[in-house]
Amino acid sequence: MKTSIRNHLISQSLLLLLSYTTCTPKAIEILLPGQSLNGDQRITSPGGIFELGFFTPGNSQNHYIGIWYKNLPNQTVVWVANRDQPVSDPISSTFLLHKNGNLTLNSPSTVAIWSTNSTSQVRNSTIAMLLDDGNFVIRDASAVLWQSFDHPTNTWLPGARLGYNKLTKQILSITPWRNPQYPAPGPFSFELEQTSLRLLWNSSETYWTSGNWTGKTFSHLQDIEEKHVPSIFSFVVNETGSYLSYAVRASAYPDPFIRNHTFIRYMIETTGQMKFFVMENGSLQWNLLWMDPMERCDVYASCGAFSICNPRNLPRCGCLKGFEPKFHKDWELEDHSNGCGRKTSFHCSGEGNSAFLVMKNVTYPKSPDSLVVDNIDKCRLTCLRNCSCTAFAYDNQCLIWGGNLFNVKQLSSDGMIGKVWYLRVAASEKEIIDSTAGNTKRKTTWIVIGVLAGIFTLFSIVLVVVRRRQSVRALKSFEHSLVLFNYRDLKKATENFSEKLGEGAFGSVFKGILPNSTPIAVKQLKSLLQGEKQFQAEVRTLGAIQHINLLRLRGFCADSTRRLLVYDYMPNGSLQSVLVQNHPLILDWNARYHIAIGIARGLAYLHEDCRDCIIHCDIKPENILLDEEYNPKVGDFGLAKLIGRHHSRVLTSMRGTVGYLAPEWFTGEAITPKADVFSYGKLLFEVISGRRNSEGLDDGLENYTPNQVANAVTKGQDVLTLVDYRLGGNADKDELIRACKVACWCIQDVEKDRPTMRQVVQILEGALDVGIPPIPQFLQYLSGSLTEAINYREPTSSSEIIFLS
Ligand SMILES: *[C@@H]1O[C@H](CO)[C@@H](O)[C@H](O)[C@H]1NC(C)=O
Ligand SMILES: *[C@@H]1O[C@H](CO)[C@@H](O)[C@H](O)[C@H]1NC(C)=O
Ligand SMILES: *[C@@H]1O[C@H](CO)[C@@H](O)[C@H](O)[C@H]1NC(C)=O
Ligand SMILES: *[C@@H]1O[C@H](CO)[C@@H](O)[C@H](O)[C@H]1NC(C)=O
Ligand SMILES: *[C@@H]1O[C@H](CO)[C@@H](O)[C@H](O)[C@H]1NC(C)=O
Ligand SMILES: *[C@@H]1O[C@H](CO)[C@@H](O)[C@H](O)[C@H]1NC(C)=O
Ligand SMILES: *[C@@H]1O[C@H](CO)[C@@H](O)[C@H](O)[C@H]1NC(C)=O
Ligand SMILES: *[C@@H]1O[C@H](CO)[C@@H](O)[C@H](O)[C@H]1NC(C)=O
Ligand SMILES: *[C@@H]1O[C@H](CO)[C@@H](O)[C@H](O)[C@H]1NC(C)=O
Ligand SMILES: *[C@@H]1O[C@H](CO)[C@@H](O)[C@H](O)[C@H]1NC(C)=O
Ligand SMILES: *[C@@H]1O[C@H](CO)[C@@H](O)[C@H](O)[C@H]1NC(C)=O
Repeated sequence: MKTSIRNHLISQSLLLLLSYTTCTPKAIEILLPGQSLNGDQRITSPGGIFELGFFTPGNSQNHYIGIWYKNLPNQTVVWVANRDQPVSDPISSTFLLHKNGNLTLNSPSTVAIWSTNSTSQVRNSTIAMLLDDGNFVIRDASAVLWQSFDHPTNTWLPGARLGYNKLTKQILSITPWRNPQYPAPGPFSFELEQTSLRLLWNSSETYWTSGNWTGKTFSHLQDIEEKHVPSIFSFVVNETGSYLSYAVRASAYPDPFIRNHTFIRYMIETTGQMKFFVMENGSLQWNLLWMDPMERCDVYASCGAFSICNPRNLPRCGCLKGFEPKFHKDWELEDHSNGCGRKTSFHCSGEGNSAFLVMKNVTYPKSPDSLVVDNIDKCRLTCLRNCSCTAFAYDNQCLIWGGNLFNVKQLSSDGMIGKVWYLRVAASEKEIIDSTAGNTKRKTTWIVIGVLAGIFTLFSIVLVVVRRRQSVRALKSFEHSLVLFNYRDLKKATENFSEKLGEGAFGSVFKGILPNSTPIAVKQLKSLLQGEKQFQAEVRTLGAIQHINLLRLRGFCADSTRRLLVYDYMPNGSLQSVLVQNHPLILDWNARYHIAIGIARGLAYLHEDCRDCIIHCDIKPENILLDEEYNPKVGDFGLAKLIGRHHSRVLTSMRGTVGYLAPEWFTGEAITPKADVFSYGKLLFEVISGRRNSEGLDDGLENYTPNQVANAVTKGQDVLTLVDYRLGGNADKDELIRACKVACWCIQDVEKDRPTMRQVVQILEGALDVGIPPIPQFLQYLSGSLTEAINYREPTSSSEIIFLS
């Protein structure tokens, strides 16, 4: 009677296929003069890859003409015509090719709200069609009159241009959507500036640049010491003198990695971050391979005016005290382009109408004007007397900000004290804030704070300068991507291995800082089973594996007696450290779900997309690391192989792992990627409940989370009560039910019944549905047999359990 998840998934995909073949409206390939498109009619590219028609983004009520990949279950829109002029009714609107070559979008029926303005010399000779590279072209017998590739929106596809045309003075840049429901251009842009690419805010402030790329060849595995883009560009300086860059078609690109991917796209996110996605042949899943800036708060004006960006918080954006989002609806959709506005406005004529709030532990806003005045009091008066002044600071000179304040970033509270500055608000607003904060300090204290802060900053500047002076030695680059470190440098970087971050099965991890101030994590491997050559070969394979949810290997060190691996340093530690009950930060449900999907994506990549399938074998919260943005990164992958050929022996002697091991580790059956799926399921229970599964086991099976969840899911009971009590029941119910079901499917006894990691990703994303999982048998054994229970219990930190092979 047990319905296997596989059957269920097969019937799902059959349904999908059926719905494609029966419900798809008749596709048009070419639009002829006088012909139009409306309602659910579509233009399809000859190879059936792309499709053009009306679409509705997210929960919006509005309709837009767009281009998307035809056969992906999740619509990925790559181009939009009427970005900021939606139509409300696609039935009465027409997308019409005129006989003179002009193509217009008319709503309702007559008024043109968007047009290409293309004209043909020969009347009634134009056609419009969608090509297989996603380019929508209007051409007549002799030339291309207009093409969507010359009017990019938020996506850059292989074959499309980016650049500056000296003749038309036109900049071809890409701009993000305002929010997931509104494709109008946001405040950011990605464009070519002569020989480098850059990201800009308001077409004026550069917040990221690629550097000079002339004459370079680009690969996604570029030297990691340099900031780079995993790239498929080649630069062409047009004979007419304009700089144009062409994204080379995948097939023409020499890198075999790129050739293996069906779809490639660059996209600028509404957050102002640039992302590079690839999709492997046959998979229906986008993999995020690269993103810059990594941290959202590093984007210029990332949260809009009068906001504060906190890299250790989700959501990132908040308003300064005394301010609130200008448009709450947009703000909730993570559209911060309008920023925050004053809760209470004030007339600036009288000096008593406004007052200052002290801002601490945050950075200065961007672009102050500086004046020379004697003291902080005069600086304050200067600000008070200037109607456009919104903030001031005194730092040996008087800094005055006028108009909107941008780029205020929260500093971490651990030791780093930011500069103090003063925010101008209505006097009545300050009273409210002070009274709610119980702040009754006298007016004079801020002077003291200001002076102290000044002294402190001076001191820190001296420190930084001294540090910079220290020798910066070039590191040997190895195989384009990995750095070969020598032991002396690593010893120095880690201050003689003094700051231990953790201890794992393969060795201890220490924090270090490279001469260029990049923090690193250095893993000292315990075992030397492999020779230097073989070790290097394996490390090279690992170094080539890059995914946003996998911990990046920066380099290594190997000599006769030592083996060390150098990784990116992850400021937020491991998932385990964040899940413990006394951690000051409580991850909300969104963050947890984001982490669960991220880990699944990373594992799916390891299992299916690498050259050799890699089974992680040791998935547990300690091996999931969190970057500044709380993106999960799977660590320690591939190490079992590095240590030696008999890695199963090493693995089964690992500590702290037993609670996550699949039954096949005990029965001696072959280990497949499904063993990781099992461990992932166990981990997912802990992410949901916020406690170790083993904690509940001490009080009997009733408190064992997997058992509780399995029971609740099977009986259709409310699972909200099983979520971490610290969330106070705040969780998205659909997501929670999906997570619970997936976790139960993952821990099925028979590996064939478990989903693949790829399917897990799809289920969590809501792209696939699954049925009710049966209760795994081992849970039933658990209730009966104490010996089995011990196998699933966490061993204490010092004991090592060795299983017989
Ligand atoms: C699928 O669509 C949903 C909702 O729009 C989105 O949240 C999710 O990220 C998408 N998945 C992929 C793989 O793009
Ligand atoms: C076409 O011309 C109209 C009016 O001259 C202009 O508003 C519109 O932006 C143009 N469309 C394009 C796609 O350039
Ligand atoms: C194209 O059509 C639009 C809307 O009718 C019009 O404003 C524009 O002038 C036309 N462009 C040309 C070149 O005919
Ligand atoms: C215009 O071209 C279309 C298709 O090519 C044709 O069916 C139609 O008769 C032509 N109209 C005129 C007035 O030439
Ligand atoms: C955006 O840039 C324009 C000029 O490039 C400038 O006039 C305008 O003030 C800028 N907007 C903001 C909010 O800074
Ligand atoms: C970029 O580098 C090339 C070759 O290294 C050099 O000739 C060129 O002047 C540089 N361009 C800029 C804008 O720095
Ligand atoms: C160079 O620019 C001219 C004018 O914009 C254009 O017609 C031509 O196709 C361009 N050549 C290349 C190789 O892009
Ligand atoms: C490309 O795919 C083929 C077939 O799946 C595989 O054998 C080859 O190793 C892949 N190449 C790379 C660089 O991933
Ligand atoms: C993947 O797809 C691309 C483009 O369709 C094709 O050129 C390539 O040969 C395919 N690779 C494999 C390994 O199937
Ligand atoms: C007021 O402050 C703004 C912003 O610093 C500055 O540009 C302007 O010149 C000041 N006005 C006067 C009258 O000082
Ligand atoms: C600022 O950071 C210090 C620690 O450096 C902390 O004691 C203080 O409470 C923080 N202040 C605010 C307002 O967060």
